[in-house]
Amino acid sequence: MKIKKAVIPVGGLGTRFLPATKAQPKEMLPIVDKPAIQYIVEEAVESGIESIIFITGRNKKSLEDHFDKSFELEQMLEEKQKWNLLKEIQNISSMANIHYIRQKEPKGLGHAVLCAEQFIGNEPFAVLLGDDIMISEKPALKQMIDAYHHTNQSVIGVNAVALENVYKYGIIDPGRKFGQVHSVKDLVEKPTIENTPSNIAVMGRYILNPSIFSYLKAIERGVGNEWQLTDALRLQCQQEKLFALELEGKRYDIGDKAGYLHAMIEVALNHDDLHHKLLPYLERIVEKERIENRRNTRSSSKSII
Ligand code: G1P
Repeated sequence: MKIKKAVIPVGGLGTRFLPATKAQPKEMLPIVDKPAIQYIVEEAVESGIESIIFITGRNKKSLEDHFDKSFELEQMLEEKQKWNLLKEIQNISSMANIHYIRQKEPKGLGHAVLCAEQFIGNEPFAVLLGDDIMISEKPALKQMIDAYHHTNQSVIGVNAVALENVYKYGIIDPGRKFGQVHSVKDLVEKPTIENTPSNIAVMGRYILNPSIFSYLKAIERGVGNEWQLTDALRLQCQQEKLFALELEGKRYDIGDKAGYLHAMIEVALNHDDLHHKLLPYLERIVEKERIENRRNTRSSSKSII
C-alpha cells in the first residue's frame, strides 16, 4: 500500500531556545533561508507523501501561515517581477495537503500520534519529528518507505550513537540484521548507559502500521510522565514484527543549540553563493582559536614550572 500520509508533531514548547521561542515556534527558526520545518515537509513530499497533518499546540500560528497562501506577498512579488521568488513562495503553499489538529496539552509523542488516528484511518503512515533534520542524497523517509515495502511491517529509522548519548533517545534491542535492516526484539525510551540494550538509536522517522493506534491506547505514562511512542512500539514488536533501518545521511538534532548550529553551518556550506564566503571565514576563526589555545597552554605550563 502506498504511504501517502504523514504526521508531524510540532506541539513542543521549545524551552531550550528561549527567549528566541518566546513568541515564535521553534520549528520556524531558520536554517539559512528556510524555517526548519520546511526541510521536514520537503523530505516528506520528496518521499511521495501527499497529505500532512501537523499536531500543533499553542503559539504555532506563524507555522500555519507559512504553509498558507500569502496573497499580499505574491501580488507584491508579481508587481516587482521577481518571478523566481514568486514561484518559490507559491510552491510552499502547494507542496502538499496540509491539515492541523491541536494537541491541547503537551502529553508526549505517543499522545500526539494518537491525535492523528481519525485522519490516518486504516492505512500505514509516516511520522517525522521536527527536531531531526536529515541531510542525505535519497530522502531518509524514502529510504524507509522502500524498506517498508519489502516487509509491510512497521519500520523505524535508526543510527548508532555514542554510548554517553543513549539517554536522549529511544534505543532498540536488535535481533538479526539483513543488510541495513535490523529486526527489533525490544525498545527502551531514554535508557541509562548501564541498562541500554545497544547504542542503536531511533532517529525521529517512523513508518507505522495503523495497529499502532491500539497499542498507543494500551500504554500508560512512561519516561517524563508522558505517553511515549516507544512504549507502543514495544507492544507492537511483541505482537507483530518491527524492523529498524540504518539511515544513510547526516542527522542533526536541531532541538539542541549545538546541533542547530551544526545544521546551519552544513546547509550554508551547501549553498553555492555562501560556500566561498563562509569557508574562509570559518578557517580564519578556527586558526585564531588554535593560536590562542596554544598560547594559553604555553602560559599555563610556564606557571606550573
Ligand atoms: C523522541 C523519541 C525518541 C527518539 C527521539 C529522536 O524523543 O521519544 O525515542 O529517539 O525523539 O530525536 P525526544 O527527542 O522528543 O525527547
